[in-house]
Amino acid sequence: MTKLILDLDTGVDDALAIAYALGSPEVELIGITGTYGNVLLDQGVRNALAITDLLGHPEVGVYKGLPHSSTTDSFEVLEISKFIHGANGIGDVSIPDSNREPQSEPAVDFIIDAAKTYGKELVYVPTGPMTNIAAALRKAPEIKDEIGRIVLMGGALTVCGNVNAWEEANISQDPDAADYLFRSGAPATMIGLDVTLQTLLTYRETRQWRDLGTKAGAFLADMTDFYIKAYETTSPHLGGCGLHDPLAVGVAVDPTLVDTLPMNLKVDVDGPTRGRTIGDNTRLNDPVKTMKAAVGVDVPRFLHEFMTRITALAKH
Ligand code: BDR
Ligand code: CA
Repeated sequence: MTKLILDLDTGVDDALAIAYALGSPEVELIGITGTYGNVLLDQGVRNALAITDLLGHPEVGVYKGLPHSSTTDSFEVLEISKFIHGANGIGDVSIPDSNREPQSEPAVDFIIDAAKTYGKELVYVPTGPMTNIAAALRKAPEIKDEIGRIVLMGGALTVCGNVNAWEEANISQDPDAADYLFRSGAPATMIGLDVTLQTLLTYRETRQWRDLGTKAGAFLADMTDFYIKAYETTSPHLGGCGLHDPLAVGVAVDPTLVDTLPMNLKVDVDGPTRGRTIGDNTRLNDPVKTMKAAVGVDVPRFLHEFMTRITALAKH
């Protein structure tokens, strides 16, 4: 069975990504590695522990990753992240803290060990900055050939960014790490804003979770309503909130949910468009394409899978 690692900056859509993974019988979630972004590292780790408990899966270990990008020595949560995900990352909804601690093994070592243990069975899904996977690839470059797949949420090729016209938030937090991953030769699929801004959730769906009458259903509905409300202010034209991180999990479970183009990608790391994801023109004619970028998504099928899986999980 496919083994899954989620690498999360546990905000609202990361939390929905956990629920999607736990609701998917085709995969075993063997661990969550924590990163920073929507919240600080420690808050994200706390959220991941509490959410896996609440969703009935305390067996999922949570590993602490690196606390900031490879090019800075500190990290502060942006005001916009607090507005979109809440100060605690989960829509300012309060849920019981877990009495579990994070695992003692550092996230970077866990990723390397998992690649060596599970090889092609392993799918790694980063839905925050790529800092942990870049560090793992630097430490053990051979894992690029050992790991099964990487399905990352980040970037924007055919649409504007969500930080500014050219930068998507996850790439923006650590462009150098993302560029390292993109050029590493690892088999990665980019799930960017190109597709994730097509997969939208509304109050109609969150009401179905609330109507379940369970703690998990109430949590998912309250948390996601906060996120939808933020989108009403920042992106009223969309008519819902973007299911960025859950789509990456959806593709990890079922790659046929998206259409992809093989290409060699890089990230602009110098100059005024630092953080922009683009095609690598030094490898334009290279027949070996190591990455794929999602350019189309079967929206109705994804939304159906998303709702069916998460609703079934939240019933209990
Ligand atoms: C990405 O940025 C974060 O705010 C979300 O959790 C998602 O991973 C979308 O650009
Ligand atoms: Ca995220």
